[in-house]
Amino acid sequence: MKAVVYEGPGNIRLADRPLPSLLEPTDAIIRVTKTTICGTDLAILKGGVPSAAPGRIIGHEGVGVVEAVGKGVRHFKAGDRVIISCITSCGSCENCRRGIPSNCTDGGWILGNTIDGCQAEFVRVPFADNGLYHIPTAVPEEVALMLSDIVPTGLEVGVMAGNVQFGDVVSIVGAGPVGLAALLAVQFFSPAAVIVVDLDDFRLALAQRLGATHIINNADGQAVAKIMELTNGRGVDAAIEAVGHPLTCKLVQEIIGVGGTIANIGVYSQSAELNKQSLWTKNITIRMGVVNTTTIPLLLKTILGGKLDPGQLITHRLPFDEALHAYDLFVHAGKERAVKIVLDMAAEEPAAEADLVDLIVRRIMQASRS
Ligand SMILES: NC(=O)c1ccc[n+]([C@@H]2O[C@H](COP(=O)([O-])OP(=O)(O)OC[C@H]3O[C@@H](n4cnc5c(N)ncnc54)[C@H](O)[C@@H]3O)[C@@H](O)[C@H]2O)c1
Ligand SMILES: [Zn+2]
Ligand SMILES: [Zn+2]
Repeated sequence: MKAVVYEGPGNIRLADRPLPSLLEPTDAIIRVTKTTICGTDLAILKGGVPSAAPGRIIGHEGVGVVEAVGKGVRHFKAGDRVIISCITSCGSCENCRRGIPSNCTDGGWILGNTIDGCQAEFVRVPFADNGLYHIPTAVPEEVALMLSDIVPTGLEVGVMAGNVQFGDVVSIVGAGPVGLAALLAVQFFSPAAVIVVDLDDFRLALAQRLGATHIINNADGQAVAKIMELTNGRGVDAAIEAVGHPLTCKLVQEIIGVGGTIANIGVYSQSAELNKQSLWTKNITIRMGVVNTTTIPLLLKTILGGKLDPGQLITHRLPFDEALHAYDLFVHAGKERAVKIVLDMAAEEPAAEADLVDLIVRRIMQASRS
């Protein structure tokens, strides 16, 4: 099968890999129909996630059709359309039972990290009953794909961890897919203002279309001064960091107001400073963590109710064969005006009979190249 394989810092390739098989009775094999690239995959590509070893099939966001299930899987059967959560959880270890499945002692974020992931034609999902979610018929696959990671992340690690309340002034730093997902989610809590900060004008314009009340391009380094001016020197009630860089870690510390909450979503590959000397008097809270994805069912209901459309985050759709081109687009997201890029596995499937010969020839050529 075709798969995106991490080969070491700066190096990925589209390779031919053996099909996965059921290893445990609680496993399922999913035929991936759509997958996408996360900011965290770029961190892996840069060598910033040491747990993802060379040779790993990357990707932790996907939707597909159940191909096979182990004897211990109760809620899913072959043919079911499913969302693959980026989090694998056993449901019975201490952390799972404490409601922190992202830290499952036998799972957590392992797909596309410590085990092979979703940027492949097929993927093995451990503890399938906990890590898969049925896709309702009325929800398009590419919309459901946004629930594997980014929308639950924006909601759980950004908005809910940020303790956003009705009437709050919120700032979201980083208008990538995750920051924009937090922007969609935060509006359920009726904040008085949402100030989005980024370095890219296209993403900021999109943020404005998606409900930001203020947008700030921090290329001039003036974001802190502008936010303090907007808030009459008070700072914000919730500062959601969705970048993962020491500079933005510093920024959220400078704009947080008395009694506020900093919600850190960003994944750091280097140490970032915490300026307790200026923060300690402000009675603030700092939260951070990995998404649990336990809000997926609630988000599906919200989509079905017509209250949420995460499909608005999709800017590109490409066949899976062009995965490396998609990485290139995502790395140069500013120039390419890219937010969420859907890689479509099935794009080739409805090919007319005449095209099939061409398809087979292309596959043979690909196999001989890799
Ligand atoms: N905690 C979790 O569970 C979890 C889950 C998913 C993703 N993440 C992390 O969330 C972060 C965002 O993910 P993404 O996919 O949106 O990434 P992304 O790289 O697409 O987006 C980051 C955005 O930050 C902006 N940015 C960079 N430097 C900036 C600066 N100095 N000031 C303002 N903006 C700046 C970029 O222009 C970009 O738009 C990543 O660190 C990712 O690893 C965390
Ligand atoms: Zn991710
Ligand atoms: Zn567990």
